[in-house]
Amino acid sequence: MERTLIIVKPDGVQRGLVGDIINRFERRGLRIVGMKFMQASRELAEKHYAVHQGKPFYEGLVNYIISSPVVVIALEGTNAVAASRKTVGATRPNEAEAGTIRGDYALEVGRNLVHASDSVDNAAAEIALWFTASELTSWPRNNDPWIFEKP
Ligand code: RTP
Ligand code: MG
Repeated sequence: MERTLIIVKPDGVQRGLVGDIINRFERRGLRIVGMKFMQASRELAEKHYAVHQGKPFYEGLVNYIISSPVVVIALEGTNAVAASRKTVGATRPNEAEAGTIRGDYALEVGRNLVHASDSVDNAAAEIALWFTASELTSWPRNNDPWIFEKP
């Protein structure tokens, strides 16, 4: 079963949208296997966004993600990475479809509310970066057979 990493960024927490954002993924059918509320260190944020180092928005991006607490969530499900990216919507909220998180709640790329891993490999690396093994729980969910054809 595929896994992905979601972060409700500081703007999502400050705006009181944590519940709404988690609900989008829950109702999609994705299974929560890890979740925590924390404030990221600069070191952790720099590792998470290492791929963007050197880009003009990099400094602002790191300062934004460490500016206040975030909620970090590991999700599991069929095509969890691609499904979550669709639920999140396009990076630039003005290009995000209505019905997506960014399309419904955001206006600017630097305040786009949520992170979602962009590949299965990056998801595995990001989950390992943000969670310890003991913070992740594999569990059978009662409604799995109604969401997954082969749970
Ligand atoms: P994320 O990693 O947060 O899920 O977003 P993404 O894949 O849709 O976008 P990505 O290209 O990975 O960019 C990471 C985050 O950097 C900020 N950004 N700002 N000012 C800009 O041009 C710009 N471009 C990207 C956004 O917060 C984006 O989510
Ligand atoms: Mg990205």
